[in-house]
Amino acid sequence: MASAPAALHAPLYDRLANHIPTPPEREAAADFLRRTLQDVAAHADDLPENPADLTAWMEANIQKVHGLYQAYLDERKAGSPRRYFKNRAHALYFLRNVAPTKLVDGSWLYGLCAHADNSRLSDLVTTYVEELGDGLADKNHVKLYRALLANYGLDPIEDLPDALYQQGLVQVALGWNAQEFLPEIVGFNLGYEQLPLHLLITSFELNELGIDPYYFTLHVTVDNADTGHAKRACVAALEAAPRIDDGGDYWRRVRAGAKLGNVGVSTLDVISGFDIDSEVVAILARKAPSGYGAHSDFCKVAGRSVNDWLSSADDLPQFLAALEQAGWIKRNQPVTDSRFWHLLQGERAEMFGVFSPYELQVIHDWIRGPASADGAPFETGATPGTGKRQMSFRVAERLKAAKGGRSEPVAAGLDTDLEIFEKRYPTLGTAEKRDLLVQAMSPALHWTPVGLLATRMFLNRSV
Ligand SMILES: [Fe+2]
Repeated sequence: MASAPAALHAPLYDRLANHIPTPPEREAAADFLRRTLQDVAAHADDLPENPADLTAWMEANIQKVHGLYQAYLDERKAGSPRRYFKNRAHALYFLRNVAPTKLVDGSWLYGLCAHADNSRLSDLVTTYVEELGDGLADKNHVKLYRALLANYGLDPIEDLPDALYQQGLVQVALGWNAQEFLPEIVGFNLGYEQLPLHLLITSFELNELGIDPYYFTLHVTVDNADTGHAKRACVAALEAAPRIDDGGDYWRRVRAGAKLGNVGVSTLDVISGFDIDSEVVAILARKAPSGYGAHSDFCKVAGRSVNDWLSSADDLPQFLAALEQAGWIKRNQPVTDSRFWHLLQGERAEMFGVFSPYELQVIHDWIRGPASADGAPFETGATPGTGKRQMSFRVAERLKAAKGGRSEPVAAGLDTDLEIFEKRYPTLGTAEKRDLLVQAMSPALHWTPVGLLATRMFLNRSV
């Protein structure tokens, strides 16, 4: 979709999402937005022609989504399989592949923090601060997503395709260029904060597979029609609209901004893009460079040494087929029947620790085949045909709570940025204090100790 060079997104995304970008980097992001707006200019948007119809438009969307979700629930009750996730590996693949977008959640509104004194923008600032969980570690959306990646062994994500960074780059580029793109930000926020059907289905199916759905359920409640972000986005669009006649320019730009939410790889594209055969090959290809030379030449499969097989990424599918033929892998059977599995997982597994929990789950579900629809985690070495359903996440949590609850780790107050902030802040004048607070609330920092502190101070601001 974008006319930008193929590998542009991830490096620029990294500068904006994980650093305080330099002026030329912000300008590069503005350029990217201008190009992207041109690319989507001819696309349709579904905002109403007239801003006065916004509330009715939002309510109609919510009603439509609720109706579709009810139909989905009825379907499931009648025995239909999950609509999105074939197995646990599929759901974890989804969580991993949407990470570049989720890790900059809310960032499109960042640039408004510096303008919090303008009460016409206060709904947008409030939305941003709520994305930051009002400075509470267990409510900050990005921090929650980071915890999700860590808890399910989905890190690192460096190998993800560049296209998956495109939507996140749109968001963080808006956040760092509010001065130039305010109407587009208002429009992006309008489109992006409306309740989507996929959020409801994702929450339902993650829970069913025993995976924590909190990040997603949180957004279901946050996007509600009465008081949530969806409603506030409508109010904000009307508040920020010019009172001086602009010939409809503001509203045209708002509508253009709303189209930016569809740029890049969508949630449904990610879900349908899962192909377990190619994911297994991709995992082996990632390991091949470090595995090459690590095996003895006595390890031979189909007459070729393992080192030889691993020397060429193109041969990996044949290598897997050869392992199957030689009986090392027994597809569509319990993983414990495969000698290959015992090399990866178990007390004395020779390759223990080589594969991440995510990678083990993919290999596990690939070996088990259709039986993996039961959602069993790889640690259980589940056998097919037992008919046992995976315990839902919420049931598991209730059981845990009944057995004495879970203890949340206390956030540590040790951090290099926090140290700088605490030393510098008291020495500054009012304007500089505000600048430092706003900097600490940037996408790179808001989920860290200094960002959480700054967000709480910003909320109680007297500066
Ligand atoms: Fe969020």
